[in-house]
Amino acid sequence: MTIRILGIESSCDETAAAVVADGREILSSVVASQIDIHRKYGGVVPELASREHLRRIVPVVREALEQAKMNLQDVDAIGVTQGPGLVGSLLVGITYGKTLAESLGKPLVPVNHLEGHIHAVFLEAHKAGINPALPAVCLIVSGGHTVLYEVQPKNAARSDAGALWSYRKIGQTRDDAAGEAYDKVSKLLGLGYPGGPILDRLAHAAGNAPPPVKFGPTKTRGNALDFSFSGLKTAVLYHVRENPEYLPEIQAREAAIARGERKFDQLLPLCSQKTLGLVKEFQNAVVRDLVDRTVKAAEELSVPTILVSGGVAANRQLRSTFEERAQRAGLKVFFPSMALSTDNAAMIAAAAYPRFRNSIFAGVELNASSSLPIA
Ligand code: KG4
Ligand code: ZN
Repeated sequence: MTIRILGIESSCDETAAAVVADGREILSSVVASQIDIHRKYGGVVPELASREHLRRIVPVVREALEQAKMNLQDVDAIGVTQGPGLVGSLLVGITYGKTLAESLGKPLVPVNHLEGHIHAVFLEAHKAGINPALPAVCLIVSGGHTVLYEVQPKNAARSDAGALWSYRKIGQTRDDAAGEAYDKVSKLLGLGYPGGPILDRLAHAAGNAPPPVKFGPTKTRGNALDFSFSGLKTAVLYHVRENPEYLPEIQAREAAIARGERKFDQLLPLCSQKTLGLVKEFQNAVVRDLVDRTVKAAEELSVPTILVSGGVAANRQLRSTFEERAQRAGLKVFFPSMALSTDNAAMIAAAAYPRFRNSIFAGVELNASSSLPIA
């Protein structure tokens, strides 16, 4: 019998619902982004995020069911993000999920958001008929997280979509997440929020623009698999402060964004070659650190597979550099589709499936956990 799980995700600034069959087939996936609300503040405002989730959650779930051509009674279980994330935001999804589960008499499956990001990679691979070999090293790289896990099946004999995995954290950021560094650098260059997508495109447009400054690899004393991005962000800040010729173009871009002209085609003409070179050098440094440490971890642990997920996994240079380096090292690397890289509920419904199969359910006492460890 096919098991259809309704996934609900509200951990940060996306209200999302999806239906996934047997942990593998996406029947629907609806994401309501709050970017336009938070943009003017340069980051997610928790209080506004909770209120917006409350406004959107019911229509988003309804739409996910409609797209899957189902009604609530057809759902076999509700999977909901328990954490990590913003507590006020998480509580909206959890409360709604709990209410649905109770009133329908269906099981409620608590899901870790990061485990969801890992399942996003498998959703994409399965669609292509590929089953990535475990154990794997998994890099989750987003606005809130930059963390490396070793992932393996809990029971070595099982590798199907219903198998539970175990996770061992092997590296993490000591300060900012990589996406956070993108967002902060974008803000200080007058390029708006979120920073990742625009800096990605500007770095690409830089071509062979010479770097106005060079950023070396970061060192993290102790664990060589840890990351650090706040020093890089500060280095960009100091470079800009020391070179006052950046100021007029930063102000011109801020003014354009204030007028709502934030598209790539509108911002590119407002960027000098020097700025493009700076953006490219920043991106080179982020990508180099992410790829170097992840490949090093895979080699040290002798695993055949690398999984990369989270918002920054949408970055084109990160993807191509990983492909190239993994091929050279004889490793296979997998990413989610672009749409499944950023927050969504299909990944939550997929991660709920093995838990459903193993009867890991939550009762009405389920609460949000801002720093829920992955287990
Ligand atoms: O996974 P996500 O949607 O939300 C979190 O859980 O944080 O990730 C959002 C983050 C933001 O910091 C955004 O700037 C970054 O991912 N991002 C990117 C790209 N697209 C989104 N960073 C680099 N390149 C991109 N193409
Ligand atoms: Zn996320």
